[in-house]
Amino acid sequence: MAAQKKLYIKTYGCQMNVYDSERMAEAMGGSGYVRTEVAEEADMILLNTCHIREKAAEKVYSELGRMKPLKTAKPDLKIGVAGCVAQAEGQEIMRRQPMVDLVVGPQSYHRLPEMEQTVAGGAKALDTDFPVEDKFAGLASRPKAARGPSAFLTVQEGCDKFCSFCVVPYTRGAEVSRPADRIVQEARGLVEAGVRDITLLGQNVNAYHGAEGGLAGLIWQLADIDGLDRIRFTTSHPNDMDDALIAAHGDCAKLMPYLHLPVQSGSDRILKAMNRKHTAESYLALVDRLRAARPDLAMSGDFIVGFPGETDADFEDTLALVRAVGYASAFSFKYSPRPGTPAAERDQVAEAAKTERLARLQALLAEQQTAAQEAMVGKEVRVLFEKPGRMQGQIVGKSDHLMAVHATGPERLIGQIAPVRIVSAAPHSLGAELL
Ligand code: SAH
Ligand code: SF4
Ligand code: F3S
Repeated sequence: MAAQKKLYIKTYGCQMNVYDSERMAEAMGGSGYVRTEVAEEADMILLNTCHIREKAAEKVYSELGRMKPLKTAKPDLKIGVAGCVAQAEGQEIMRRQPMVDLVVGPQSYHRLPEMEQTVAGGAKALDTDFPVEDKFAGLASRPKAARGPSAFLTVQEGCDKFCSFCVVPYTRGAEVSRPADRIVQEARGLVEAGVRDITLLGQNVNAYHGAEGGLAGLIWQLADIDGLDRIRFTTSHPNDMDDALIAAHGDCAKLMPYLHLPVQSGSDRILKAMNRKHTAESYLALVDRLRAARPDLAMSGDFIVGFPGETDADFEDTLALVRAVGYASAFSFKYSPRPGTPAAERDQVAEAAKTERLARLQALLAEQQTAAQEAMVGKEVRVLFEKPGRMQGQIVGKSDHLMAVHATGPERLIGQIAPVRIVSAAPHSLGAELL
């Protein structure tokens, strides 16, 4: 084996990038790299990037600018850009920042070890293909090292929905599902390494079709794994929520009562312009069906304000939808025009209106989140403890509803699920007593 070298990875964007960063680090392990948290000591730096909004993409170039002195101090340092900016900008990145040695798209990172050989020889390496071979099959199996109790597991990639604002179909490519047996095998390995809570990931995870019965079928297969106690999945599109998946929320005890189901807008006119292919009413009807299956389901969502053509009345419809659903948590963004997407070419909403709408929406969502947190006080819930808290003697973890909970308790409970009673609520965390 080659001498040990150090790899620093900085991850931006969604949970799929977090998973990909782990897999890239593991792939580079075979080339003698170990991961470091200190950029200054790295032999290779990889930025795993996000292209979803303008600010996310800009961050990459400012971070590369900040890395210049590192490269000056250590000319052998290799700098790579991975992820969705790599896919979207490709060669342009090396043109703007000639010190970048390597650019690798999200579907090609199984080729990283070869690319490392190329850059070690002093050449540049660029790979933004959507290769026909299966990326996951090309990656070495995952190491058996002990892990924390929660993990991500990508089961599906890409998107065929083409919402008119979104770059993901271009950066991640067409929908692809991993075969169920590989996923079950990977999940078993994670459980052997100490994982008890798995979040299945996909840009459109409920479009998963690699198992009989779709995502619900896969969830039922995973529910058979002893030692795996909690299953979650994200992110879903409303139109791919089939009957079996709705039913699983009521019938599968390991499927947790939390669902991230982005709607983007409450105005049918805007939903149509977004090419979402659902209405506000069909979304609300879906939420009703999910809550009929699982009455305590905690809902989360994504919203965009200031989409081209959005009027005050359209925005009021979004607020009305939010009031009708009652979200336990949510993410909301100003519309950001993305190059190459249809909506970027349309007449844009003034920045001041976007700012004002975002503030009003976020105030309402914050109110709902506080209400959801406070409604937990007095309840007995199960917490998977994940790590020591910031205060002496404290341990922190997540409830079934994915709320952060802290309690005074012994560190031996880390990695365990324990019953607690919630005694206090803050906007982002709950205080509890062990039972
Ligand atoms: N696949 C998921 C998530 C896509 S990206 C889904 O279908 O919901 C995560 C979120 O970023 C989106 O839900 C959307 O709310 C937001 N987003 C995507 N493109 C955006 C843009 N151009 N401007 C602002 N927000 C955007
Ligand atoms: Fe983007 Fe829409 Fe696909 Fe989600 S469903 S990734 S928002 S195109
Ligand atoms: Fe960003 Fe790509 Fe994820 S654009 S949100 S990192 S799929």
